[in-house]
Amino acid sequence: MSMDSLAEDKIFVGWDALTALETFLQEEVPQNAKIILLTDHTVKQHCLGKLFGSNQRLHDARIYEIPEGESAKTFHQAYDLCRHLLSDGIEKDTLLINLGGGVVCDLGGFVASIYKRGLGFIHIPTTLLAQVDAAIGGKTAVNLDTYKNQIGTFAKPAGVFVYPLFLNSLNERQIRAGFAEIIKIALIADQALWHLIRQYDFPALKTISFEGLLWSRMIRDSIGKKLEIVRQDPFEKHYRKGLNFGHTVGHAVETYSLQHDRDPLLHGEAVAAGMICETYLSWKHNLISQPERDEVIGYLSGMFDHYPIAGETHDEMLKIMQADKKNKGGKICFVLLDGMGRFQTDVSFDPKIIFESLSYYNSLQA
Ligand SMILES: NC(=O)c1ccc[n+]([C@@H]2O[C@H](COP(=O)([O-])OP(=O)(O)OC[C@H]3O[C@@H](n4cnc5c(N)ncnc54)[C@H](O)[C@@H]3O)[C@@H](O)[C@H]2O)c1
Repeated sequence: MSMDSLAEDKIFVGWDALTALETFLQEEVPQNAKIILLTDHTVKQHCLGKLFGSNQRLHDARIYEIPEGESAKTFHQAYDLCRHLLSDGIEKDTLLINLGGGVVCDLGGFVASIYKRGLGFIHIPTTLLAQVDAAIGGKTAVNLDTYKNQIGTFAKPAGVFVYPLFLNSLNERQIRAGFAEIIKIALIADQALWHLIRQYDFPALKTISFEGLLWSRMIRDSIGKKLEIVRQDPFEKHYRKGLNFGHTVGHAVETYSLQHDRDPLLHGEAVAAGMICETYLSWKHNLISQPERDEVIGYLSGMFDHYPIAGETHDEMLKIMQADKKNKGGKICFVLLDGMGRFQTDVSFDPKIIFESLSYYNSLQA
């Protein structure tokens, strides 16, 4: 996919993304329209200065700050924001800028899509995960209690500005978690990307600058592949479900961790565990060979720390999977690898086999 193909969706990636933002604000946002900005405290500290540059309109934007992390992605937080927007007299011709990770993008996109039946909004993603995934494809969400993304809308941002240099202030754990989504897209849709990334383990990746060509290529290719899939099925009726590879088990592990751990797993870390289980299921379903299974699982388990999924947690994991949005006719549906670089959707298994995949994952610790 060419760079122009990304620009068709007003997605700009690279060191000049902030220049593209300036042009967008000048040419596409009327001078009398208000601009407001949603962010969190850490992003404000690390990224706001770089964003402001010399743009007076951004300087003048009213800033709404939400608490950090997954716990902010609630209906209550969305309600609170809507109340603030109303009391501040925010009208429909306002542009909302979501500056932050996936939480800010998901929550801000959701609020923008429901407040007064829709404000214009753009994303400026500042984590790797948000740059390659959460800001792309027009899905918004908040969680319902500890169940992930149960409430949300499809709402396309007017632009997405991906500036890799924002990633310089991310910690290693967040970079690795974001990298899980690059691995996912490579496995389901881009063999060339898979061959490229598996040449690098994490210590090697860490030493490579975000200004360099490798990261730009990985970020751009991931976005391009995701867009190709989204364009074929924007409302996730069938094909787009493929992007959920690793996410059936991944969301269960993430939800479980949010409920039980003081320092819960990050989304990408849980998806990595989910990809291992679902790669195992792909092999079990005869869709990939054993060497392919071992190649993928070897890479993932070398890249991510092990999260124990002991036998006594399996019933609870299954219960969480039973609430998964992709399920059909009461059956838990998985996305599986169908060879390398391809996928199959809507495959269901007997719970016994699902437990087997969890036990297999757990056995990798040894
Ligand atoms: N809508 C979608 O299609 C989609 C796709 C994938 C994931 N998601 C969602 O994305 C969320 C996870 O996103 P995330 O991993 O970005 O988490 P996050 O938004 O919670 O950000 C992680 C942390 O990084 C900090 N941070 C952000 N940018 C920074 C920077 N440049 N420097 C230093 N710190 C920075 C934040 O303050 C936060 O503490 C999940 O809720 C997930 O469900 C949505």
